[in-house]
Amino acid sequence: MNGDIPRRFETMVANISIETERAVIRPIVLSDAFAYHKLESATETRCFLGRALPQIKTIETIRNEIEKFGSNWRALAIIDKTTSDFIGRCGYLGGLVCPQEAEIHIALSKDYWNKGLATEIGRALLLHGFQKRGLATLTGVVHPENKASIRILEKLGMKCVGTRPEDINDRQSGFLIYQIEQSAT
Ligand SMILES: CC(C)(COP(=O)(O)OP(=O)(O)OC[C@H]1O[C@@H](n2cnc3c(N)ncnc32)[C@H](O)[C@@H]1OP(=O)(O)O)[C@@H](O)C(=O)NCCC(=O)NCCS
Repeated sequence: MNGDIPRRFETMVANISIETERAVIRPIVLSDAFAYHKLESATETRCFLGRALPQIKTIETIRNEIEKFGSNWRALAIIDKTTSDFIGRCGYLGGLVCPQEAEIHIALSKDYWNKGLATEIGRALLLHGFQKRGLATLTGVVHPENKASIRILEKLGMKCVGTRPEDINDRQSGFLIYQIEQSAT
């Protein structure tokens, strides 16, 4: 696969509960709205979105969306097993080319960076996607300057297969597309 790949935004896999060594991944609930809003508003969460930068939603909008879509909302919560705090979001978005493909995404509160946690979450998403959900391909889409994110995708065994063009949300072109096939794991 190469270049000119459109992007979809639907949540691919809902109703998840995954436990990793340090975290639990579960659907977002109303009481996560404040922490989710804080995470998504943080400059460091947004800095690699380029022109993709979506408007920061109000807490009220986030609450309404969680109420409306429940576990089908695009983000899952990452919860610190020790403190039960909301420490990030992750999830699977609709595939780029076929129903058996999903794009993974992860963002953590800055206090939790550089502890190997995103790699731990990414591995769990890979395992769950391939083994429990029967996905054939998992994708990561990353800004070329987001070195930490690229490193994680590489540690997950993903390979760069192309770049993403500008798309329906006027996203910055040149995002790198990484992929791994279930058969390669
Ligand atoms: C990207 C993000 C999820 C990484 O989380 P994290 O828990 O710190 O990641 P990990 O600790 O598991 O792994 C990061 C790796 O990148 C490396 N790294 C970090 N910053 C780096 C940099 N500037 N250049 C090169 N490598 C870097 C780390 O050394 C580590 O690799 P290693 O294990 O080989 O030492 C986190 O920074 C974040 O939430 N960023 C904001 C949202 C975002 O950009 N999400 C990704 C969108 S595609």
